[in-house]
Amino acid sequence: MNCTVHIDSRLTDAERRARLYAGDIFIFSPNPHSLQLVALAREMIEQAFNGLDPLTLSETLPVESVVEVLRTLKPRFIHHPTCKQLIPALLEHCGADLDKVYFDVPRLRTAYPSHFLSSGIAYAFHPHRDTWYAAPAMQLNWWLPIYPLDRENCMGFYPGHFDMPVRNNSETYNYYRWNEQSRASAAQHVRADTREQPKPQEEVKGPSLRYLPPPGGCILFSGAQLHETVRNTSGVARYSIDFRTVDIDDVKAHRGARNVDARSTGSTLRDYLKASSPGEHLPDGLVGEYDDGSEGQASILYFGDRLVRENQEPGVQ
Ligand SMILES: [Fe+2]
Repeated sequence: MNCTVHIDSRLTDAERRARLYAGDIFIFSPNPHSLQLVALAREMIEQAFNGLDPLTLSETLPVESVVEVLRTLKPRFIHHPTCKQLIPALLEHCGADLDKVYFDVPRLRTAYPSHFLSSGIAYAFHPHRDTWYAAPAMQLNWWLPIYPLDRENCMGFYPGHFDMPVRNNSETYNYYRWNEQSRASAAQHVRADTREQPKPQEEVKGPSLRYLPPPGGCILFSGAQLHETVRNTSGVARYSIDFRTVDIDDVKAHRGARNVDARSTGSTLRDYLKASSPGEHLPDGLVGEYDDGSEGQASILYFGDRLVRENQEPGVQ
């Protein structure tokens, strides 16, 4: 397939979404709002590690101490009230209509040198589509590095697989069950991760494409895009922010990337917050159109925000 990479595109939001659902990737230069978001993350990271260089912690701290700090740092960032102001501002800057776009809470991700820590709270993601993890077809991912990237320490994309099925076991993944059983325990998986996750069941042929925007720059891509955390052989840590968005018109129209191979159950749609009014979720009736019967009891429906706050969000998808 054809994958076009757009740099600082001037397409309208609707045109851009259509291109994203067809497999294109968009890259944006830093803007004042993304730079503020990155500055907030840097300040929190550097404070949490007491002035130690966050990029070289693998040389200065035992792995358990790093995990201990991340256990409180990540949820603090995720639920920081300033994030709920900066993300809508960033989206508006990039042309989104704040009455139509919904976002989920931003994740702070960490990728340490792979010999040091690559599981649990700093999980290194094998090639996957977010749709294998119950993301809706119209989910878009916004990904921003906090410090300069290295080609051995970034995200990898396989756009050639966008419309080509990859053998996988996503049928094992149900979003509600995952929230209930696995998420809260991620910080315990320091050395090895035993949680079952959707993975390719065949070798994914590379090479992966790696885009290296500067800190505060952004990669925007469809949740159906096959991507991975590149195994970190750079010797320094990588810190990044990502969040997801959906556009309500596309949710209503059931419009998004074509599903070529995802069989996960449940839906993350209940996690999204209205950009112009972040206390508001997508309407229940609309989300109900995506229910597949696995939603079960009402008590396990509204996880995204609440559960992560209570159980201190691990670095999960
Ligand atoms: Fe992902």
